[in-house]
Amino acid sequence: MVPTRLNELPAYAELRALAARLQSADLQQLFDRDGQRGSDFTLEAAGLQLDYSKHLLDREALAALLKLAQQAGLPGRIGELLGGAPVNNTENRPALHSLLRATRAPQGLEDKFAEVAAARDRMRHWADRLHQGKHTGYSGAVITDVVNIGIGGSDLGPRLVSEALKPFHGDIACHYVANVDPADLQNTLQTLDPGRTLFIVCSKSFRTEETLTNSLAARDWMQQAGAAVADLDRHFLAITTNLEAAAGFGIPAENCLPMWDWVGGRYSVWSAIGLSCAIAVGWECFEEFLAGAEAMDHHFAAGDPGANMPVLMSLLEVWYCNFFGAGNHVVLPYDNSLRRLPDFLQQLTMESNGKRVSADGAALDYDTGPVLWGSAGTMGQHSFHQLLHQGTRLCPADFILPLTTHTGMTGQHCRLVANCLAQSRTMMVGRTTEAAGAALRQRGLDPQEAERLAPHLAMPGNRPNSMITMQALTPATLGALLALYEHRTFCSGQLWGINPFDQWGVELGKEIGVQILGRLSGDDPGGEPMDPSTERLMDAWREAL
Ligand code: F6P
Repeated sequence: MVPTRLNELPAYAELRALAARLQSADLQQLFDRDGQRGSDFTLEAAGLQLDYSKHLLDREALAALLKLAQQAGLPGRIGELLGGAPVNNTENRPALHSLLRATRAPQGLEDKFAEVAAARDRMRHWADRLHQGKHTGYSGAVITDVVNIGIGGSDLGPRLVSEALKPFHGDIACHYVANVDPADLQNTLQTLDPGRTLFIVCSKSFRTEETLTNSLAARDWMQQAGAAVADLDRHFLAITTNLEAAAGFGIPAENCLPMWDWVGGRYSVWSAIGLSCAIAVGWECFEEFLAGAEAMDHHFAAGDPGANMPVLMSLLEVWYCNFFGAGNHVVLPYDNSLRRLPDFLQQLTMESNGKRVSADGAALDYDTGPVLWGSAGTMGQHSFHQLLHQGTRLCPADFILPLTTHTGMTGQHCRLVANCLAQSRTMMVGRTTEAAGAALRQRGLDPQEAERLAPHLAMPGNRPNSMITMQALTPATLGALLALYEHRTFCSGQLWGINPFDQWGVELGKEIGVQILGRLSGDDPGGEPMDPSTERLMDAWREAL
């Protein structure tokens, strides 16, 4: 199928005209003119509520965006994704992360589903064994600490989920080591007892430099502590598609849980890549996490585009990216346990949609995936929210707010909620220069001084934002939230006509890294000469030793 060219779709020109009109729209007036806006521009799915009423959007623009989705063939593409068509066309593979949380085999995917179910059984075996304190190490002591060694999708998903579900943890502590900087591993190992530690080497390819380097160092640490080679089986599991390389490292097949080439790393937390989370929270809880994602999959598959949460969020992304020139998107989780969400979403969205050619290889003449950034509220308020409110750039925002807290400190949580709602409303309403001047005069400033300062206090407002709420952050709502962003990412990729499932852009840096390592380490002293800047920097490293 020929991929979409966004700017060739008939609705594109109409949307440009609508965006020109809505660019200067007053959001409060949009509410005043449309009494149903507040309730109609909201949506419920899989335990999540999306309020998209504070957007530079009216019913006419929404209808045109939905036309764009139809013209891009989005409903058909969603069917292809979920049905296992080879949507990753540069690698000729399906992208079947939804199968990892399915409870029934979709038609035509019975064989793959059977493999997933078998892997889930094995995952459950290890999760139960460790969660219930039944697995012992070389010294006979029970394992109390699990260290996930992985990077990118083999780290960010499990790390996020494990932290977000802290209130559901049992007795096992989970740690995450990703960086090839030895300080990452060293700082983690410092606190651990080798006899009570189990490593999960997470690497789809089992070829990733950072993961292999850290895993070798972890194995040395274990042996230096007295573990014999024969004991290492008790301390190392691997999650990989590459059983041969895992065996070469010394991890036998019975300690390896599978991955498949039809699951992208950044979409893999639902597979055995999420084993550390299943160990931490226990299998039943992990199944609830999968069930939340499956509920979102069902909504995504069934919802007509106008009532489909991932589709709407994707249309908003494209709306601001391609019609308002917003090159970024900010994610603001008002829940401390979701503070890693922006990191996770950066890989999900930017590794997926940071592409400059269409799925058929033609250079694109419009923007694709925006820069995603953010941090947990309220910290960002005391850091970058200044720019959100008064900067010159448009930063469309997603606020994410669990309505209740697991801490039992409802009174203090009320402050967090108030801050979240206040930031969302402030982005929208802003404050005119006149209102700022009046406020200053009321504070006792003389009129001249008030006039001088008023422009500095004025805020344009009309800064668009969504609010995603949920009753509580639970395994199920977390699963739904992550699946929501996965599907939003897919839809945007389709609207831009790109392949969201490859990541060729990371490869050249890895190759050049190997060449430079050869020169620095002396293993390949005659290797390729570099540019003068890089040569000088390599000399600086040698001199610093
Ligand atoms: O280099 C990018 C990448 O391939 C990511 O897509 C992936 O999540 C990460 O590296 C880790 O890969 P692996 O699981 O194969 O070690």
